[in-house]
Amino acid sequence: MTTTLSNLVRAEKGLVDRRIFTDPDLYKQELEQVFGRCWLFIGHESQVAKPNDFFGAYMGEDPILLTRDSKGKLHAFLNMCRHRGNRICRADFGNAPSFMCTYHGWTFATDGKLVGVPGYKEAYFEELDRSQWGLVETAQIDSYKGLVFATWDKSAPSLRDYMGDMAWWLDLVVDRRAGGTELLGGHHKWVLNSNWKFGADNFGGDVYHLPVTHGSTSLSGISRQPRNPRYIGDPDRYSVSPGKGNGVMGAYVGEGINRANTGDVVADYRLKHLPELEQRLGATRAKQFTFGVATMFPNFTWHGSPMVRTWHPKGPTKMEVWSYCIIDKEMPSDVRDAVLRNANRGFGPAGGLEQDDMNNWLQCTASGLGPTGKKYPMNVEMGIGHDTKLEQFPGILSGWPSETNQRSFYSRWAEIMDASSWSDISISPITTPKQA
Ligand code: FES
Ligand SMILES: [Fe+2]
Repeated sequence: MTTTLSNLVRAEKGLVDRRIFTDPDLYKQELEQVFGRCWLFIGHESQVAKPNDFFGAYMGEDPILLTRDSKGKLHAFLNMCRHRGNRICRADFGNAPSFMCTYHGWTFATDGKLVGVPGYKEAYFEELDRSQWGLVETAQIDSYKGLVFATWDKSAPSLRDYMGDMAWWLDLVVDRRAGGTELLGGHHKWVLNSNWKFGADNFGGDVYHLPVTHGSTSLSGISRQPRNPRYIGDPDRYSVSPGKGNGVMGAYVGEGINRANTGDVVADYRLKHLPELEQRLGATRAKQFTFGVATMFPNFTWHGSPMVRTWHPKGPTKMEVWSYCIIDKEMPSDVRDAVLRNANRGFGPAGGLEQDDMNNWLQCTASGLGPTGKKYPMNVEMGIGHDTKLEQFPGILSGWPSETNQRSFYSRWAEIMDASSWSDISISPITTPKQA
């Protein structure tokens, strides 16, 4: 029997029950209802650029293999042999025409077909129907400007409809220059004892924590912005809720702030190519050119540094973060070096800002384990009734800071947890131009 979520997430009052971060039964339901049905980020096309390239990732707790088959088509398969269930590929990435299971030797091609069975004649008497025992494939796979997403649910809306107006903001990461994007270097992976939702919540709209959580990192010189005295209550900035649990921080309406960080090699590069950005995405979005931070429901996040990341669930109180730098293909080498330096200094397991954040999430998760602590709800009431709308931006705008995005995120989570199928889940109309 599943749990009804209506009394656990009371968005109208700004209250969220802490058990949603720790309860094992809710977690099992979450793997099925959220991670089993939503579109999840699994990689970048550049990771599987050539025929027979593969890359290992996760969808929820399920290990998957993103492949490009010998004919060039993208697939995402459960990384599980159909015989006893062994993983068919242990490598993180590479190029191979087929994967031989290390248990008994069943072999699968990059299009998922079972192409080799030891003893097929002598032991199976040619009676095994190999066409029925290929790899388990996701129900849908699609790309948005180089980013690859997949879902296990064939009734899920198209990726573009699922993204809604969030794509308008994501373009600021993936559509800045002709030639598109690629991932830079390898990627960081690390495990921490926090529920995955704390990462998604924080990067999807927690402006409030910046001056306090990152105060010491700011003093050390790693980050300058949070010490700006206008950072809390800045009238020129907004948190944005594009709908359906997605959150962006934030929209900018003033003049001059985008030039504040010039002198930094990455900012100077962006300034140099501002006319191209404006020509591609228009003046409103070009103004946001030092673009902020966002979470697309449920667990895909981007950051203007620029980077993309996934908050993989690994149990109710554990997650594994995968974080990548993403850059314009046209980016010159000195700027690439600076992006990597910035990313390593601020983010990843050794990054100053990341460590600031993680320490808080560990404690917030642990609070939901205590018999007394879990009786007291989390507060996300900031700014209720003070949302606004500006015609140039899609979505609801709220303060800098505000917790409208958190209320949207947890409401969406509860809606999807309660729904029996996609026909019971609301989808926002896209109000921005549909771009291919
Ligand atoms: S488990 Fe893979 S061949 Fe037996
Ligand atoms: Fe932070």
